[in-house]
Amino acid sequence: MYEEALRPAANVAAGWLMTLAERQVGIPVAPDDLRLRLGVELGDAGTDPATVIEELAAAIEPGLVATAGPRYFGFVTGGSLPAALAADWLVSAFDQNAAMYVMSPGAAVAEEITAGWLLDLLGLPAESAVGFVTGGQMANFSCLAAARHALLAAVGWNVEADGLRNAPELTVIAGKQAHATLVHAVSLLGLGEAGIRRVAADDQGRMLPDGLQLTLEHVDGPVLVCAQAGEVNTGAFDPLREIAAMVRDRDQAWLHVDGAFGLWAAASPTLRSLTEGAEQADSWATDGHKWLNVPYDCGMAIVRDSAALSAALGLSAAYLQGSGGRDSFAYAPEASRRARALPVYAALRSLGRRGVADLVERCCALARLAADELSRCASVEVLNDVVLNQVLLRVHGADTAAVIERVQRDGICWLGGTSWLGEPAIRFSVSNWSTTEDDIRQSVAAIVAAVKAVRG
Ligand SMILES: Cc1ncc(COP(=O)(O)O)c(C=O)c1O
Repeated sequence: MYEEALRPAANVAAGWLMTLAERQVGIPVAPDDLRLRLGVELGDAGTDPATVIEELAAAIEPGLVATAGPRYFGFVTGGSLPAALAADWLVSAFDQNAAMYVMSPGAAVAEEITAGWLLDLLGLPAESAVGFVTGGQMANFSCLAAARHALLAAVGWNVEADGLRNAPELTVIAGKQAHATLVHAVSLLGLGEAGIRRVAADDQGRMLPDGLQLTLEHVDGPVLVCAQAGEVNTGAFDPLREIAAMVRDRDQAWLHVDGAFGLWAAASPTLRSLTEGAEQADSWATDGHKWLNVPYDCGMAIVRDSAALSAALGLSAAYLQGSGGRDSFAYAPEASRRARALPVYAALRSLGRRGVADLVERCCALARLAADELSRCASVEVLNDVVLNQVLLRVHGADTAAVIERVQRDGICWLGGTSWLGEPAIRFSVSNWSTTEDDIRQSVAAIVAAVKAVRG
């Protein structure tokens, strides 16, 4: 019975994946066209599974973007390694609830093993807890929840029981260029994003250590310092060693590092120095679905003090009986959830240590190639030091938005816009395992052609 639906799904998937690299990256489509295609009447009678799959695939296709392909450079977007994608299929086929050991000893132990590999690869303390969450946003949220618990518990306040009303003040400090999801996590946790003390950043987006020192001098009581490994536009790292030393010198202080993609530099012997100091933090947020190239949804919340993470996120009920194995609901905000460590397990095993390092190094080398080639065009300026996989561009003598629109319409590659130091800029992020030098050269040619066309 299952085969009837799985066979057409496998055929569609194979067709999509085999043509991914040649596809126009983003084809403009009107939402109303998609509504017409997908919005069939939901009749009383059901439809047989094979027809559902075939019709769904045909109807949705014009609205699919080749984000997992080799020339998608928007946001920070990885593709899917073959082993990771195949493991992801199995996650759905096995349909395990990874909330508790008793519901899936296999999923629980796979998480445990994968967590150990991750800590080792990222150079983080072996005793840390790893929660497998939906992405960087929830990783930041989970880590900050653990920080909120520990910092307030240290001054005698039980935030889980008593909430934040009348709670002792907890100061959150973050750099000016902290990622939006970090700020959002602060807001979701009721700590108030307006109250975040923002520390000035340099022209690469790195938090200024003197600014942090000054801010710390003016703060009493528990303090949560949020640093960043990999700024989303420039890829720059906050001065983590200096920041860690300042936080260590203080009582009632917690250092969190948002390393959604940048923390993966630690897996490369040649790039590891960028993350130096990160290992001294108390918590780290990172993603699997960006640079590790596992399918969405996959992030990791890593917390040195495992008890703090469980106290913040764990839940209890009479029927949820612990079993002595890993009960993953103690490390993530959800209860029921898919076994999302399996694709990570498969990605890491298929790559091996050297493969992870190669993936990270290759993307960085390709980002440098793109920057070098693009800077030959007189109208294009590379705004950042290309230390990682991000390239930030400014176009002179042409409207930036028009250039981006032109590149997206041409469909060779996909870039997005941003604002940098108050001016419009273009982001180019190399995060896909399958991107080649040829993809970079084709994309550079497309961008240069778009600049020329817009300049007229
Ligand atoms: C530094 C940083 N933190 C957090 C995130 C959010 O990650 P996600 O989209 O997986 O929630 C991103 C996304 O680009 C990021 O660059």
